[in-house]
Amino acid sequence: MRGDFTTIPFKLRKTMTKSLVNIAELSKEKIQYLLDMAQLFEKDPNLPMLKNQVVATLFFEPSTRTRLSFETAANRLGARVIGFSDPKATSSSKGESLKDTIMMVSNYADIIVMRHYLEGAARYAAEIAPIPIVNAGDGANQHPTQTMLDLYTIYQTQGRLNDLDIYLVGDLKYGRTVHSLIMAMRFFNPTFHFISPEELKMPQPYIDFCDENHINYVIDDEFTAQSISHADILYMTRVQRERFTDLVEYERVKNSFILHADMLTHCKDNMKILHPLPRVNEIATDVDDTKYAYYFEQAKNGLFMRQAILCDVVGITAEDVKSKM
Ligand code: CP
Repeated sequence: MRGDFTTIPFKLRKTMTKSLVNIAELSKEKIQYLLDMAQLFEKDPNLPMLKNQVVATLFFEPSTRTRLSFETAANRLGARVIGFSDPKATSSSKGESLKDTIMMVSNYADIIVMRHYLEGAARYAAEIAPIPIVNAGDGANQHPTQTMLDLYTIYQTQGRLNDLDIYLVGDLKYGRTVHSLIMAMRFFNPTFHFISPEELKMPQPYIDFCDENHINYVIDDEFTAQSISHADILYMTRVQRERFTDLVEYERVKNSFILHADMLTHCKDNMKILHPLPRVNEIATDVDDTKYAYYFEQAKNGLFMRQAILCDVVGITAEDVKSKM
């Protein structure tokens, strides 16, 4: 971690707007509500719910899916989009602080979608900004909108969220999507299987979270056709090269677990393979043509879920959406 924003001077604190920073702040009812709302947008993604609004996408870290799906969501909702995908082209490269950047953009936009490399950056922004902040990923901490689209996809493929065996494979240390997924699934009685090399095991705070919330989990380092045969969801993750301080260690662990099509011989019929993407080589391309691969559909669901989230943070309800359909 290159620093953090967890200590915020009192004078900078303000009444929170309706931001989405941390998935753990969403109730079960709120999760269900956003899933239902996303379903409305899957039926009709071209509803002008955000006409005359401006959405700012501030990406201090690289992104393909999250930024483009948010921008597509905003465009399809009738909003206009401003922002940047490369902070080097902004005044932050001249030394402008995150606080000043957020305060400036709040003058121009109605919603800020932000990805930042520092854990806690989204929380900090939400506490100082007069407009809603949507966390599009903060360091190795959280990626709540990815989690919401993951839940949508799990529900879409399994017909339920309850009582599923979810196998999380790969970089469980730095993979923020698996951290957020554990928290959101606490309402649905999952059994998690944490499969990773020792160096990338699930951090203790998330193990503690499972214990405190009575979430079943199994810790494993075996990744074979037999060891994944009970999975309902096989959630593969990329080893996050950009978070390693020692690239020798990255080289040592980067190919620890690679899924090949010939490992899918014992799978349950309903099993689906998810991945937040981008993948490097942890899913061989021969898996793409199997009936288990679902990661491209998962990414598509990001559009509908992000439409729901953009509406929700500015107070547009599912009833408002239905009235326009
Ligand atoms: N899943 C995800 O966050 O992808 P991007 O890094 O491309 O946005």
